[in-house]
Amino acid sequence: MTNERVAVVTGGASGIGRQTALKFARKGDQVVVADFNEEAGNKTVELIKAEGGEAIFVKTDVSKFEDVESLVEKAVDTFGRIDVMFNNAGIGRITPVLDQDLDDYHSVINVNQHGVAHGIIAAGRKMRELGIKGVIINTASVFGFLASPGTFAYHATKGAVIMMTKSAALELAAYGIRVVAVAPGAVDTPIIQGYKDSGQLDSMKAKVMGNKLTQPEQIADTVYLVSLEEASAINGSVVMADEGYASFK
Ligand code: NAI
Repeated sequence: MTNERVAVVTGGASGIGRQTALKFARKGDQVVVADFNEEAGNKTVELIKAEGGEAIFVKTDVSKFEDVESLVEKAVDTFGRIDVMFNNAGIGRITPVLDQDLDDYHSVINVNQHGVAHGIIAAGRKMRELGIKGVIINTASVFGFLASPGTFAYHATKGAVIMMTKSAALELAAYGIRVVAVAPGAVDTPIIQGYKDSGQLDSMKAKVMGNKLTQPEQIADTVYLVSLEEASAINGSVVMADEGYASFK
């Protein structure tokens, strides 16, 4: 049985986003891959098509609201609707707080926090307009509530994602739209390169059950499960996909 939904995935050119785009497509969804990395975003579309799935790429900078609005428009123009919005694009930087470059600080906030806000607002408005009882899923992190050195701006954004999820869920319930956050722990994608370089990776891995990095496919599976109608009771929640990272000392 296939879903035949339309799913938009930001950050779909790499890591968690690429695997989630593939997962949705394998389950029969039409997928809109959004990213500002055009080459790698088109590669995700190629991978989906090679498996017989349906997808398009839309070059998007999630930190710009007009880009995210036109992404949602493009999804509806192409496939007729939007059922799932996965606000996942993100960046990370490791810098001691007092040595923080302010431009870097602002760019992390612009992508990770404002990018998610843009996705919630643009997709929520469109779902409301079309009367679609969809689901908006936001990528948070265990770093939304646990502090680690050198990631001041990142923590700020992931904490914000958690509270924006709860706040939006409360209001969008009136339209039958769910808003949920998924919080990964330590996932093997390019974004953790800074941890590899700084030598912090081993202590991160040690907090994950089995002392190994989580694979992006595992997060994709979680996002997919949360997106299903069978998960209708999950709303405003932070679904941990961290293999115990935040649960054990
Ligand atoms: P990744 O680096 O593999 O993928 C991030 C994607 O976002 C890239 O394709 C990048 O081009 C895209 N992107 C960055 N800025 C963008 C912008 N302004 N507009 C559009 N696209 C943009 O990293 P990963 O791990 O797949 O990250 C996905 C999400 O998961 C991020 O929100 C990250 O914070 C979160 N996360 C990752 C964890 C990990 O251990 N890898 C742990 C917890 C959360």
